[in-house]
Amino acid sequence: MLEPNPLADLTQANTLALRAQAARLVRLTALTDVPAVADLPGPVFILGGGSNVVLPPQMAGTVVKVELRGIREVASGPKGVILEAGAGESWHDFVAYGVARGLGGLENLALIPGTVGAAPVQNIGAYGLEISERIVGVTTYDLKAHVWQEWTPQACAFAYRDSAFKRAEPGRWLITAVRVRLPHRWQPRLDYPDLRQHPAWADTPPTPAAVFDAVCAIRRAKLPDPAVLPNAGSFFKNPVVDVPTYRAIAASHASLPAWPQADGGVKLAAAWLIEQAGWKGRRLGAVGMHERHALVLVNHGGANADDVLRLSEAVQTAVRARFGVGLEREPVMPAAS
Ligand code: EPU
Repeated sequence: MLEPNPLADLTQANTLALRAQAARLVRLTALTDVPAVADLPGPVFILGGGSNVVLPPQMAGTVVKVELRGIREVASGPKGVILEAGAGESWHDFVAYGVARGLGGLENLALIPGTVGAAPVQNIGAYGLEISERIVGVTTYDLKAHVWQEWTPQACAFAYRDSAFKRAEPGRWLITAVRVRLPHRWQPRLDYPDLRQHPAWADTPPTPAAVFDAVCAIRRAKLPDPAVLPNAGSFFKNPVVDVPTYRAIAASHASLPAWPQADGGVKLAAAWLIEQAGWKGRRLGAVGMHERHALVLVNHGGANADDVLRLSEAVQTAVRARFGVGLEREPVMPAAS
């Protein structure tokens, strides 16, 4: 039975720790209750770990906190082992589950905050790996058509920090479970410079567990822990620009980090653009861009969504003025009541 909890405080339910209240909050813990979500007073907003959202102070409708649990091995075939996790499991715990069984394949994505169900929505990625490379299936309930569906990776239409779940009709599909394949023939993925140069490889072979530990160490050194300094990870996507724009910036900035893309564009480092535009470590009211990583917007205490929007717009304006490049926000912003 879904039991709505009126006027729930969500300040602890979002990693930016923004002051936010839901008109109604429902905790979804059982698969048998999933179809009933479609009948809750709308708008319905699906909340996972709250690590990629900018919540408004007052949320209309019903917030559904997905707490569907369970991790299991569903199959072992010639290509690898298939693991399935309930959408409400912690993403990091799912990564650790595979690593603890000697199964490699997710270790580069260790310590990413949030839940399993949120991972395919934004196609989480870090240290040279995107989850789209491992996903073999996603189970959803369509809140509009009232049907269960199984999604192939192709149907998910994954792209950089994007998917059909985010792009087409956000909120229509309630993700209940995600399946990944972890290859038997595992190869460490050490393309990312910090990881390749990690001192551990001088005396340790890169096993799944060793890569997992290295990724955790790199993230801890570089990125603020949301439990200590509230944040939502990268606040903007890395922008992809055309070659003339890239050349114009690179002509006067030899240190510009850039990655050519298959489609002919060039991806630039948003963190670098923000730092050059003078916003690294700078505050605006209760929020600021982190002093060790310019792409991470942090809440120094007591901020709300308006504070975040103001800083986000100031940073976008500064980067556009300096480089003529637009930055796109990464976290989603549900409507206020
Ligand atoms: N850089 C700066 N200033 C800074 C920080 C970084 O100039 O303050 C430069 C670095 O020197 C580097 C470049 O920017 O040349 C890229 O920085 P980094 O390697 O830290 O990665 P990123 O592009 O900023 C992306 C993901 C992260 C992921 C890392 C590692 C996006 C939006 N972000 O960040 O993902 O952990 O790569 O793979 O793609 C997240 O999405 O929340 C997230 C943390």
